[in-house]
Amino acid sequence: MSEFLTSYMRWPELLRSALEEPVEGRIEEREFRGLAVVGMGGSGIVGDVIKSLTSGEVEYPVEVVKDIKLPRWVREGWLVLSVSYSGNTFETIEATEEAIERGCSVAVVTSGGKLGELASSRDLPRYYLPRGFAPRAAFPAILVGSVKVLAELGLLAKEVLNIDLSRVSNVEGAIHAGKELSNYLEGFMPVFISNVKYYPLALRGKNEFNENAKLPAKFEIIPEWGHNDIVGWEGWAKFPLKAVLFRDVNDPLTSFAEEFLRGAGVSVKSYEVGLRDFLTEVIWYSMVIGAASIHHAIKRGVNPEVTLSIKSYKQFIKKELAD
Ligand code: PA5
Repeated sequence: MSEFLTSYMRWPELLRSALEEPVEGRIEEREFRGLAVVGMGGSGIVGDVIKSLTSGEVEYPVEVVKDIKLPRWVREGWLVLSVSYSGNTFETIEATEEAIERGCSVAVVTSGGKLGELASSRDLPRYYLPRGFAPRAAFPAILVGSVKVLAELGLLAKEVLNIDLSRVSNVEGAIHAGKELSNYLEGFMPVFISNVKYYPLALRGKNEFNENAKLPAKFEIIPEWGHNDIVGWEGWAKFPLKAVLFRDVNDPLTSFAEEFLRGAGVSVKSYEVGLRDFLTEVIWYSMVIGAASIHHAIKRGVNPEVTLSIKSYKQFIKKELAD
């Protein structure tokens, strides 16, 4: 097994220890006007999961910020949860400093870096991640840490973390399903499709094939899919595309999408979601997608772990935008 795949397959272990880790720092007892989750890439995806998790469940607005600047309406009374595995991501640090200047409450999830220093020097609520992972390979720990911070601050119920550990401990099953997905997609560009609730999975699918397999990929979200992308499939035949659909058993629009695509002659691999609690499904399918994208990388002779272009982008942004 490749070393990088091993780090993904350590997720059950990572998850268990993440559930044990404490939230440190000063915990304010207060009501927040809103929540902004700030972070990029493999850390930022956690904001998408939190957005889906909270939608329809909470009364406060939830913003996912993947930018250098915060939206204007994020101000005093809001909680800004800053998530960066390395703690050194330019966009995340800038937005976090802006949040402090605006008088927002700030909490941090990181393994260290500048963000770690900022959090400890101000005694902010903070959750430390284990070191030695690529950010995307630490996904369960980043997710659990973020949810724990929010639960501690009264923005989420602790019960949200009742993840089905037996499901996500089926490492062999994830590897098998991952190989199957990789074989299915061989020679084709993947198009990950889901409804709004499961959009973090479709996005994660795209991101994992980009970063691990070094391939372009796209993702589409239903119902918006039905207002533009659907038409694109009328003329898809010339392009080497295959669809990977997360079909929500509770959402007929996702069944419509499957029937439509199959009817148009498109090859669709469909995974049923909506059968278990949300976080269990997100973690399980992220493991399957992770395994698939790493198998793809190995077959293509590329290193799944190294992301040279992200490194050069990060060097550019620091040099260009640092004041
Ligand atoms: O998965 C990755 O390696 C990237 O997408 C990173 O997560 C992204 O560049 C942001 O870095 P960090 O997670 O350290 O803030």
